[in-house]
Amino acid sequence: MDKIVITGGRRLNGDVVLSGSKNSALPIMAAALLAEDTTVISNVPNLRDIQTMIKLLRALGAKASFEDGRVVIKPGKELNPVAPYKLVSTMRASVCVLGPLLARTGHAQVSMPGGCVIGARPIDLHLKGFEALGARIKVEHGYVVARAQKFLRGSEMYLGGAFGSSVLATGNVMMAAVLARGKTIIESAACEPEVVDLANFLKKMGAKISGEGSPRIEIEGVKKLHGIEYAIVSDRIECGTYMFAAAMTGGDVMIKQALPSNQNAVIDKLLQSGVRIDKGKNFLRIRGRARLKPTDVTTLPYPGFPTDMQAQMMALMAITPGISVITEKIYPDRFMHVSELNRMGAKIYLESPRAIIHGVKRLSGAPVMASDLRASAALVLAGLVAEGKTEVYRVYHLDRGYFNMEGKLSSLGAVIKRERE
Ligand code: EPZ
Repeated sequence: MDKIVITGGRRLNGDVVLSGSKNSALPIMAAALLAEDTTVISNVPNLRDIQTMIKLLRALGAKASFEDGRVVIKPGKELNPVAPYKLVSTMRASVCVLGPLLARTGHAQVSMPGGCVIGARPIDLHLKGFEALGARIKVEHGYVVARAQKFLRGSEMYLGGAFGSSVLATGNVMMAAVLARGKTIIESAACEPEVVDLANFLKKMGAKISGEGSPRIEIEGVKKLHGIEYAIVSDRIECGTYMFAAAMTGGDVMIKQALPSNQNAVIDKLLQSGVRIDKGKNFLRIRGRARLKPTDVTTLPYPGFPTDMQAQMMALMAITPGISVITEKIYPDRFMHVSELNRMGAKIYLESPRAIIHGVKRLSGAPVMASDLRASAALVLAGLVAEGKTEVYRVYHLDRGYFNMEGKLSSLGAVIKRERE
């Protein structure tokens, strides 16, 4: 297994280029199943989750390959509707093959995703949406079995849950509805840029969708979709992570391929923290200050502050003088990074779903354990500013969502390398 070793204390300077969005690419790869002919998706990041999705598409009978940031998918006429436990258990996003399989074959059997380190992650909203489209759903032997009677039928539905909207449920139901008979209206749809990217992809395939990016999406079912070429948007969470790296180290970093209009909540919080930000159509320049100011953050569905940036925000608050507060509204137990940050000298008190952060003057490097993807990123950020050496173990979590993070950070001047344990 690999570990990341960081010697803290360097200011980051220079340019960094973002990769394509993992959370856009995964459902879009699943959506390619909706056509029989070939789809080519570019700007796909080379990550472990992408490789898992390739394996899953192959298990479903599609031809799929990945080379040089391009995924080529040829689903063909016949699909196998069973998504096996072995693959689904390694990646929850596998659940987004349910919608396309149901739409294409009228039948989908997908291993029920289990618990997850960031908390309970039910899929009731996905199933509610499929039922509204006329599918019959059973959970049998650990699998969700969904069957359309003859075909799916468009309908009006409310997809809001206790924590607001769901990104993948919105995408999943949208993918099922594009080939349903008649009109579907999804109320309380997720507004995340990844949902918009998926809708753009589906529209290019021939789907009729409007309202994406708002809480009401309308879909007029069509008979057939066709394979296309499509480029994935850049990764807004990777972007936010480098924004924080620059801010925390007091650096001056130009982030290229950024889409500032997707980052308003993060930009707002960094401005409140005293960070200087210049933005253009597709870049962000971040200049950190020696002294940051404390803030309060509540994670919310888009356009609110993203839960996927919560751990990184906490790393910044850990070194910000004064008291900051984070309230986690999406995954109230997503705080596995707290104890590891505290092992590095942070002073964070947890009263879930709230963390109270007393900023310290400096963190001290330590061996730490990554628990999930974004927690790993927060530990790397903490390592960049900690005194001495930080070793981040279980780096496979980081590899699920950040392409070449150590390479990108070292090109900005960080002292960071990957080593075999
Ligand atoms: C997506 O997960 C992302 N994953 C997550 O990224 C991200 O944290 C999350 O959205 C929130 O932004 C992918 O896109 C692959 P949700 P998703 O359904 O869609 C509850 C990362 O680090 N809920 O929007 O599965 C749920 O428990 C990750 O890249 C239900 O109650 O998340 C949560 O509280 C991890 N019932 C809230 O909704 C459901 O059926 C939002 O979850 C579905 C969700």
